[in-house]
Amino acid sequence: MQQYAIRGGNPLVGDVEIGGAKNAALPILAAAAMTDETVYIDNIPDVCDVNVMLSTMQDIGAVVKHMSRHKIMLNARDINDLIVQNEEIKKIRASYYLLGALLGKFRFAEVVLPGGCDIGSRAIDQHLKGFRALGAEVVIEHGLIKAKAERLVGAHIYMDVVSVGATINVMMAATLAEGRTIIENAAKEPHVVDVASFLNSMGANIKGAGTDVIRIKGVSKLHGSEYTIIPDQIEAGTFMFAAAITKGDVTVKNVIPKHLESITAKLLEIGCEVKERDDCIRVVSSKPLMHTQVKTLPYPGFPTDMQPQITVALAVAKGTSIVTESIFENRFKYVDELTRMGAGIKVEGNTAIIDGVSKYTGASISAPDLRAGAALVIAALAAEGCTMVDDIKYIERGYEDFHIKLRNLGAQIELVETEKDYQKFVLKTG
Ligand code: EPZ
Repeated sequence: MQQYAIRGGNPLVGDVEIGGAKNAALPILAAAAMTDETVYIDNIPDVCDVNVMLSTMQDIGAVVKHMSRHKIMLNARDINDLIVQNEEIKKIRASYYLLGALLGKFRFAEVVLPGGCDIGSRAIDQHLKGFRALGAEVVIEHGLIKAKAERLVGAHIYMDVVSVGATINVMMAATLAEGRTIIENAAKEPHVVDVASFLNSMGANIKGAGTDVIRIKGVSKLHGSEYTIIPDQIEAGTFMFAAAITKGDVTVKNVIPKHLESITAKLLEIGCEVKERDDCIRVVSSKPLMHTQVKTLPYPGFPTDMQPQITVALAVAKGTSIVTESIFENRFKYVDELTRMGAGIKVEGNTAIIDGVSKYTGASISAPDLRAGAALVIAALAAEGCTMVDDIKYIERGYEDFHIKLRNLGAQIELVETEKDYQKFVLKTG
């Protein structure tokens, strides 16, 4: 199994190209199954979760052709299997998007219960409530979510919690329902807007995405389209915090600065300089980092997917910081790993109380999930000495060429397979 070997201490300097948003690509690929015509999708990130979604769509009969590393052609006319349950799709969260897409198009779908990062209980009741409101019969049996409907009819749906997944899923099914659907208390994340824009580019009639209320006028069918996915807000934010923690000077390119406002605001608060241009942001970290408080919230609040990255920065900032996780109840599992590197963090319920220390020291650690894994890597880049990060499969779920992009910014990071390779890396970089 592969690990990252990292020697900390180098400030990250230079430019990094940000890829397409994983959490937009996953539902957009599912939505591409809703038309018989061919769609071309560009800026698809080459990451494990997206590749699992693509191979699953091929398994059920879609034709997928790579035009280049990040552009595909997809035709779903010959989808012939509406029961989605291969071993790989079980492991990803976004499997549930096939439910909304296939239910909308075929009025029938059976999809294995979703997996994904272990960051909390991750209920799906709002997805099911939405499908039922549209007239579907939904049951969970033998590990499958089974949904079917004679007719799907638009409805007025109030989401009890703000859920990215449920908003997108119900929006997809409602696109091909009869009549009007209103989704209230909808999620406003950039990827919700991106999925709505993609569906509209295929002939859907969706208004209000990006606000609390989404209005959908059902259409009878969708047509082909060419679409480019938005840049990944979280990949960009991760590199911005990597610049902050390593005392670096990094420009993240191909981003939408508006999507990064809450991240930029926190970097300014903790003492970084941040310069925005049309499609890039430069982060310069030349002063000691300062403490702050942050609470994760649905967009436009500070993203839960950036919580570990800000925590690792605050753990080496001056003073006491407080981080409150309000979206997922189990998202501080990485704190034990960070403690091995010298951090002083106490977790009480959904709050981390962080007493900043002057430095991290390298250790042998494991990535517990995707974002926490990436955060531990950036902590290691700032640490004294060498760190070995295990379980990097989690990181590869959502970051394309992570170690290569970091190395291009001056990080000392390598993929290793054995303890002997790691020792070689330690000697070589010492
Ligand atoms: C998406 O998960 C993302 N995953 C997550 O990214 C991200 O952390 C999360 O949105 C929040 O932004 C994908 O897009 C594949 P939610 P999702 O439904 O859709 C509760 C990453 O690292 N809830 O917005 O599963 C839920 O328990 C991953 O890329 C219900 O109670 O998140 C949580 O507390 C990790 N009932 C809150 O809502 C429901 O039916 C928000 O969850 C649905 C959700």
